[in-house]
Amino acid sequence: MTETTPHSTGSTTQAGIPAVSDRNSLTVGNNGPIVLHDHHLVETLQHFNRMNVPERRPHAKGSGAYGTFEVTEDISRYTKADFLQPGKKTEMLARFSTVAGELGSPDTWRDVRGFALKFYTEEGNFDLVGNNTPVFFVRDPMKFPHFIRSQKRLPDSGLRDGTMQWDFWTQNPESAHQVTYVMGQRGLPKTWRHMNGYSSHTYSLVNEAGERFWVKWSFQTNQGMDYLTNEEAERQAGANADIHRQDLFEAIKRGENPSWDAYLQVMPYEDAKTYRFNPFDLTKVWPKKDYPRIKVGTMTLNRNPENFFAEIEQSAFSPANMVPGTGNSPDKMLLGRNFAYADAQRYRIGTNFQQLPVNKPINPVHTYNFEGNMWYEHTGARSYYAPNSFGDSWSDQTGPVDNGWEADGELVRSSYDLHAEDDDFGQPGTLIREVFSDAQRDEFVQTVAGALDGVQEPVLSNAFQYWKNVDATVGQRIEDAVRANLDDTTVPGMGVDRDR
Ligand code: HEM
Repeated sequence: MTETTPHSTGSTTQAGIPAVSDRNSLTVGNNGPIVLHDHHLVETLQHFNRMNVPERRPHAKGSGAYGTFEVTEDISRYTKADFLQPGKKTEMLARFSTVAGELGSPDTWRDVRGFALKFYTEEGNFDLVGNNTPVFFVRDPMKFPHFIRSQKRLPDSGLRDGTMQWDFWTQNPESAHQVTYVMGQRGLPKTWRHMNGYSSHTYSLVNEAGERFWVKWSFQTNQGMDYLTNEEAERQAGANADIHRQDLFEAIKRGENPSWDAYLQVMPYEDAKTYRFNPFDLTKVWPKKDYPRIKVGTMTLNRNPENFFAEIEQSAFSPANMVPGTGNSPDKMLLGRNFAYADAQRYRIGTNFQQLPVNKPINPVHTYNFEGNMWYEHTGARSYYAPNSFGDSWSDQTGPVDNGWEADGELVRSSYDLHAEDDDFGQPGTLIREVFSDAQRDEFVQTVAGALDGVQEPVLSNAFQYWKNVDATVGQRIEDAVRANLDDTTVPGMGVDRDR
């Protein structure tokens, strides 16, 4: 219900029965005890106790809006996906978020930003659950829970802790590229409207002829990239913790609908074997000079949610939601994510979260999964099993899948095979030396030095070495700046003292 019920007609209980009073409980005399059979009071208190669902872990703090995705170019040579055909318009939902902070945390803490998109296509929901950076901290899903715990809070004090964060990063040097992005301007976008979005992973596309391509998606902001300074971000974190949520909502309310142009980098299937970087390693980019960006279309956000909880908190994105003509890749992180999201959502929202309006596909669902909590759109007396003799359709494709790839070998626990130019420090070094301007590099040194303030040994020395591995000069400048701060007893530490 979106309208407030006028006082004159009163309210109801959840069973629709007229509720006698929303102000006074039923008592024995004016001053007497409350009686247990005041069902309206009992229902009000009980329902209040159940208003929350668990927050997302990670990416708890965020918001979003609906929009339209329009394909303006012809990319049918790469994909048969119906929603990617020329001129096609598809309704969609976007949710932006910080990663490490909890539900009430400030929007302007330095962090990666989530950039999650759901396209309500006629062939089912297609979700791209990306970030505002093109790479990630780790390349094996086994490390993900360790990573997130290290960025959240200490088990004893419940405080966030620089030593723990840097310990994880320096113990996992493949993080250097993403940490360089986070400590640069991308870590503090001015608003969600002023940042780009990336699939980060390599995905696949398949065309009508069955040809396969490896692709990376990006969404380039038409509002221009813009950033906050450390000082401004810190000020806003205290002054208005919800500033990014507010900015998006109010911009759309004013009719200033933000838009992003969608691009693909396309790698021919066979190139993957010999490309100089392992193209499925999520800590690497494909330089544009190797695989230039090809425009696909434009996404415009144009409609605010009517109810934050129903449409944003209960929204559920998953990299496993892929439609025909699109697909996975051998990226181990992506394959791990295929499992993780819907599992989290069955716990966070409920078994049948896909039946909620915000998550429901626009095309008919004919699944052989039944019942469970809040089973709303029931299937009548339809067959419970397949195959069946009663005409209920079921699927039975066999043989190679069109969006697959070849894999062979023993079962092993191992890192990826290295390609010719694979290492952990090369690409972040290039980012610092060739992409950052002098001013951005200076800011970066100050930001890293600030973030290292209070970090304990041996993690501090490991961090100096980590940055020297990325770039000897910048690493030395970071060490000098931290040591200068250490000498200045007036600079407060950001970590907590731990007797361990
Ligand atoms: C193996 C690695 C990963 C695992 C296991 C993982 C797991 C999760 C889980 C469980 C959630 C909460 C989902 C929910 O409750 O609705 C989440 C949220 C999210 N993750 Fe990941 N994640 C991984 C890597 C990544 C990567 C590489 C990216 C970006 C490229 C990413 C972007 C996001 C975003 C944007 C959200 C928030 C989605 C929303 O707005 O609802 N994650 N992740």
